[in-house]
Amino acid sequence: MFGESEKNVSKLKDFWVEFFADRRDGGHRFSDEEFISMEAREKLFHLGGGKTLLDFGCGAGELLVYYAPEYEQLVGVDFSASMLDEASKKIREKKCGNILLIQADDKTVWDKLEYSFDRITAAGVVQYLTLQEIDNFIFNASNYLNKGGKIVLFDILDPRLYPLWKIGLFSQDANFLSILRKIAFEFKVILSASLNSHPRDILGFSHNPSAIKKIADKYNFEITFVKSMYYEYKYHAIIFRTSEAQEF
Ligand SMILES: C[S@@+](CC[C@H](N)C(=O)[O-])C[C@H]1O[C@@H](n2cnc3c(N)ncnc32)[C@H](O)[C@@H]1O
Repeated sequence: MFGESEKNVSKLKDFWVEFFADRRDGGHRFSDEEFISMEAREKLFHLGGGKTLLDFGCGAGELLVYYAPEYEQLVGVDFSASMLDEASKKIREKKCGNILLIQADDKTVWDKLEYSFDRITAAGVVQYLTLQEIDNFIFNASNYLNKGGKIVLFDILDPRLYPLWKIGLFSQDANFLSILRKIAFEFKVILSASLNSHPRDILGFSHNPSAIKKIADKYNFEITFVKSMYYEYKYHAIIFRTSEAQEF
């Protein structure tokens, strides 16, 4: 449907697996507890309740440990062993006895789940998936979603704003020369990426809300978009079915 060849998709997947193989944090704008707890509170507001939660691409568990007190049972999934190692340290430190961690990717995760969820979420992950992979993810997630549940995709890179942010247009000290320098730098990065057949951007792909909506429509979901509170170039997609009674 989305025209990406299987070989290219698998090459990209290998790139991201390697990229995250030794990472130990989710690359939040600030890493202090105060900032992460504010981010988590914003996300909890959009998750809007539920008793069970799947956090796909949970990384080092930075948000997951803040979700834990609000849910009965949580499952964190990531393909990176180093990220999961950090996540288990955090879970132990914060004494969250209700979190299970699973090492898996967007294809293998589904067979490893033992129950379905009220909320399936992913924060800062969709950018590492192609549109076809997002389509598969939403289809599979819909089979593991309880009645009245929601799929909440946080912090999707917005192609309408991200390029402007990258060249520093939102920066307080932006000036003509600094913007010109950033444009030249981006041009060099893009050139080197295509010569080395790497993704153009280590932050992954930006996806237009209309493309995400098309996927949601295909599986008879409603979708609401919300601007990300702490990242001006990102947005959240809240995916749900109005036909189902809201049970939570
Ligand atoms: C930017 S980090 C965000 C981590 C976490 N959600 C947070 O907000 O702190 C992205 C995470 O997604 C994971 N990831 C990316 N693509 C994945 C995939 N296809 N399957 C499983 N995990 C994936 C990476 O290993 C990484 O831990």
